[in-house]
Amino acid sequence: MNTYRVGFIGCGGIAGAHAAGYRAVQNAQIDFVAGADVNASSDRVKRFVERYGVKLYTDYREMLAKEQFDLVSVCTWPRTHCEGTIAAAEHGAKGIMSEKPMAVNLDEADRMIEACTKAGTTLAIGHEHRFDPQSVRAKELLRQGEIGRLTLAWGHCGADLMNNGTHVIDLINYFNDDVEPVWAMGQVDRRRKLEGRGNHPDMVIEDMAVGRVGYKNGVTALIELGEWAHPAYQFHLIGTDGIIDVNMPNAPTLKVLSSFRHVGWTAPDLPQVDVMRAELEELIDAVEGRAVHRSSAQRGRAALETIMGIFESTYRRALIEFPVTIRDFPLERMIKEGLL
Ligand SMILES: NC(=O)c1ccc[n+]([C@@H]2O[C@H](COP(=O)([O-])OP(=O)(O)OC[C@H]3O[C@@H](n4cnc5c(N)ncnc54)[C@H](O)[C@@H]3O)[C@@H](O)[C@H]2O)c1
Repeated sequence: MNTYRVGFIGCGGIAGAHAAGYRAVQNAQIDFVAGADVNASSDRVKRFVERYGVKLYTDYREMLAKEQFDLVSVCTWPRTHCEGTIAAAEHGAKGIMSEKPMAVNLDEADRMIEACTKAGTTLAIGHEHRFDPQSVRAKELLRQGEIGRLTLAWGHCGADLMNNGTHVIDLINYFNDDVEPVWAMGQVDRRRKLEGRGNHPDMVIEDMAVGRVGYKNGVTALIELGEWAHPAYQFHLIGTDGIIDVNMPNAPTLKVLSSFRHVGWTAPDLPQVDVMRAELEELIDAVEGRAVHRSSAQRGRAALETIMGIFESTYRRALIEFPVTIRDFPLERMIKEGLL
């Protein structure tokens, strides 16, 4: 079993979840080396340093220059994901787990992929719900034809598109076998003019977003996020012969209504899975050439591309065809132009 030296860029809430996940992995020895956080005086950062025994830096570039890492977790706010990932790859990290959203625009996402490809670094994005037993079982049921052919994937939750919206879109992609989208239409509302909310203090945020997406295989998606969406983080997978309801994360019921069974709703038994451990074990497997990470950078980019398509459709008041070619962040552009 190999030993991996691990570093953290950002030592806040999700970094703690990554560290607990690294501690639990069964396919490697983990050596926590150092972490960098701009806010060394925060209680959360202090607790992280104490609990995981890492050396703390306040500048991640200085940390990367002075320390050697095999794996780096990028756990900062969204606007640092790109530069943190590129810097870690250039300093020799073999694997990087960078948090969602992958980046704040497609230009950044492409630069991350390019830098990691050039450095031979495996980059995965923190879309850990692909490991959740409910998602995995729902996908198996879809593959087995339990609800016939998937026609509509409807996902909703109470957060914004760039926050949990990226999980919602990524999971719809997972349920739909990562088939490419061909068009998107969207609308957003921003009456409260929110900026810097929760763990996205560096972002502008919409109050409500609605997206419709069409995929190459004829499946469509309905995505509802924000203030007036149903707050539960939930998916309704509607097929020609039934419905699968997926409640995230780790909620008790995966419910299936299948016309083949004639028994009403059923709830399959599910195993307990530590999703953070699972995503990090798969990162190690990917670094060692045994797996392709199911939350690969390309799939992280795909979720971001759909988000950009929904925002751009709002801007143009028209359907957007894929690939999405804009390189900036349309929500920010709309705000600058006084449209929102
Ligand atoms: N995958 C998931 O389910 C999940 C869950 C929670 C958060 N997240 C994502 O993780 C990211 C961080 O969220 P969080 O809840 O940990 O936020 P947080 O505020 O608890 O922690 C982020 C930390 O990054 C530090 N930081 C910011 N800029 C930095 C920089 N340039 N260099 C070094 N440190 C920097 C902050 O000081 C802070 O301590 C967000 O993008 C969020 O969307 C993902």
